[in-house]
Amino acid sequence: MSARVFPQALAAVPDGLADKVVIVTGGGRGLGRALAEGFAAAGAHVVITGRDAATLAETVAALTARGGSALGVPADVARAADVEALCATVRDAYGRIDVLVNNAGINPWYKPAQDTSLDEWQAVIDTNLTGVFLACREAGRVMLAQGAGAIVNVTSVAGRVALAKTTAYCAAKGGVELMTRQLALEWARKGVRVNAVAPGYFETDLTQGLRANPALAERVTGRTPMGRFGHPSELVGACLFLASPAASYITGASLAVDGGWTAA
Ligand SMILES: NC(=O)c1ccc[n+]([C@@H]2O[C@H](COP(=O)([O-])OP(=O)(O)OC[C@H]3O[C@@H](n4cnc5c(N)ncnc54)[C@H](OP(=O)(O)O)[C@@H]3O)[C@@H](O)[C@H]2O)c1
Repeated sequence: MSARVFPQALAAVPDGLADKVVIVTGGGRGLGRALAEGFAAAGAHVVITGRDAATLAETVAALTARGGSALGVPADVARAADVEALCATVRDAYGRIDVLVNNAGINPWYKPAQDTSLDEWQAVIDTNLTGVFLACREAGRVMLAQGAGAIVNVTSVAGRVALAKTTAYCAAKGGVELMTRQLALEWARKGVRVNAVAPGYFETDLTQGLRANPALAERVTGRTPMGRFGHPSELVGACLFLASPAASYITGASLAVDGGWTAA
């Protein structure tokens, strides 16, 4: 990841998140880690999940070293039992779940639809679509019982416009965009808001192969109106805003954070 930082993005921490209990799936690295750092800086109790316990432990140590409140709970979002155990652990530890950020996601294969195997399709759908449903269902049950909660789903430009060689990824992200609006509708009168942030191309492991290929990287930056990749810190403000009381009348929205990609 780039050593560049965007202090203006990190400084934009909204009020009203102190002492909130926040789950960030995939919070050990990449965009999820930046989001976890943002919530911790806002004074929230941050629970991060992922499949790799060592990555979680390293991120928890970094957050707590800076005075944050953080807990790592290993979980695979594609496994219902893991997600149920995760939400039970958080509820038992803190008594509530105020915010869920569905950030965990994969995009391991770039190939045409006709060359995509059922296993490849299924793996992407299981994590990027079913995983979001499972976490919304389990955390949603806790939030509905509380009569309050906010969910932010990390989708993608690929949930709004078609990108080549990513059939399952586009289908999953497009599905989450509509699931966001569907759950918003269903839970609007029960105190639970559901929104999304739709990132463009950011500097994380997910885009490492792309960024390492000068021709592909140039195609992305050339297509992006702002002419560059996003830094993970630049997703923080949008996500924290939608999770915060500042967004109290916003539900079913999806905020593009894409350097203008979907405007063009
Ligand atoms: N980077 C971009 O340009 C970009 C653009 C648009 C959208 N997004 C979306 O943003 C989200 C984060 O992407 P990123 O760029 O930060 O990716 P990343 O650097 O590859 O990190 C992915 C994170 O998701 C976790 N994860 C993956 N599969 C999981 C599973 N089955 N259960 C639990 N955790 C899982 C990973 O942890 P473990 O490996 O330890 O499980 C890791 O923490 C994804 O939903 C991605 O689709 C990214």
